[in-house]
Amino acid sequence: MSASRRTRKAPVAPPRPFAYRTGSLSCGRLRLAGVARRFGTPCYVYSLDAILGAFREYDAAFGAREHLICASVKANGNLALLRALAEDGSGFDIVSGGELRRVLATGGRADRVVFSGVGKTVEEIDAALEAGILLFNVESEPELSLLAARAQRAGKRARFGLRVNPDVSAPTHPHIATGLHRHKFGIEPRQAATLYRRYGKHRALEAAAISFHIGSQILTLEPILEATRKVVALARQLRREGLPLRYLDAGGGLGIAYRPEQRSPSIQDYVEGLEQAAGGGQEFTMLLEPGRSLFAAAGALLTRVLYVKHSGKKRFVIVDAASNDLIRPALYGAYHEIAPLRRGSSRLAPADVVGPICETADRFAEDRPMPKLQTGDILAILDAGAYGFSLASNYNSRPRAAEVAIRGGRAILVRRREQIEDLLAPELEIPAQAAGPPKAKLARGV
Ligand code: LLP
Repeated sequence: MSASRRTRKAPVAPPRPFAYRTGSLSCGRLRLAGVARRFGTPCYVYSLDAILGAFREYDAAFGAREHLICASVKANGNLALLRALAEDGSGFDIVSGGELRRVLATGGRADRVVFSGVGKTVEEIDAALEAGILLFNVESEPELSLLAARAQRAGKRARFGLRVNPDVSAPTHPHIATGLHRHKFGIEPRQAATLYRRYGKHRALEAAAISFHIGSQILTLEPILEATRKVVALARQLRREGLPLRYLDAGGGLGIAYRPEQRSPSIQDYVEGLEQAAGGGQEFTMLLEPGRSLFAAAGALLTRVLYVKHSGKKRFVIVDAASNDLIRPALYGAYHEIAPLRRGSSRLAPADVVGPICETADRFAEDRPMPKLQTGDILAILDAGAYGFSLASNYNSRPRAAEVAIRGGRAILVRRREQIEDLLAPELEIPAQAAGPPKAKLARGV
């Protein structure tokens, strides 16, 4: 690492790709109002240039050092976005057979896929072996033993890393902290060492990696670096014993500044910190699994104001998006900035921005200073590109939103809006006779 790189002032996180141009919220030259008109609301918009920009920033930060950036599919699994990342050389971090299928469907290379998660099924393990993925991140002894058996049966050698739980606390929301021994994730270091020794010589296994991930939306580097140092110390000890651990997988976790007063470490500082904590040399090939820091700021959820109602001192702005589209505020009390597409000059006054779902938690903002708003106005809920659509559901039988990618000033539909027929199609009638399989679909003609 050059001294100049180390002393350079840390830039703030990748800027949002959305800004006002002549009073209209735009992505580059493209006005989001036109996107909302064309594709309807609620609608996710993603700047592909911003996603690829963040990916390339990761890539460049590693310089000549051996590395692989594996975009975390759970953060955003849209096929068009994954395909663009794959074409740029990205690998992928998956946690299910479904995510594997997504990656393969985009033409993504299986030998750039790492498979994490505490509950891989036999079918998922077999599919990943068949595809020839780069690495299984194993989270328990029974899983490792199953992996060995399935690999042996398939006549393959499975590369694995143990996900070590380093017992480091991540300063984040308790739902997304994973690095303490009381969390279900990973294996404590001493047990991991025992398992590496026990399974390292198995014919159908190759102890290729060591991995960790202590949580998500982490805004200070120190806990991640502390975990890195602990895991690297263990990896060195095991290497001295002859285990061929080649990859150091530092997971994901880098947070973004959702609130105006927040600051996140830059990608560059994060990578440099990791390199230093890992000893600086070429001892390990570094793997990273970023999700949020690739996708979040690049995406916005466009939503239309349905009604404005006043109740006592409260102003409720009722919009056509709901917590089924973006659950983060309801689930984690997460803050998302909300920007009207047309910048007005009215005074700001508190408002609750709420969706139509029958739950009090179906609220994007509470007592948030907002301008005057009326039926038909469009709002952009910002920083929604990660864990937005991927966590969406059909609660209240609401079809999921459309997704649109913006590339080089053009808006392209990358997922059509669901129709109610898409929701009804899988459901079956109770057969007339107790025996026999269901014969007809309930929603005939669908
Ligand atoms: N690798 C592993 C093993 C993970 O469990 C995760 C996220 C990542 C990588 C990506 O982490 P990131 O770079 O995005 O922090 N739904 C929550 C976030 C859950 C994160 C789960 N694991 C939210 O909306 O904040």
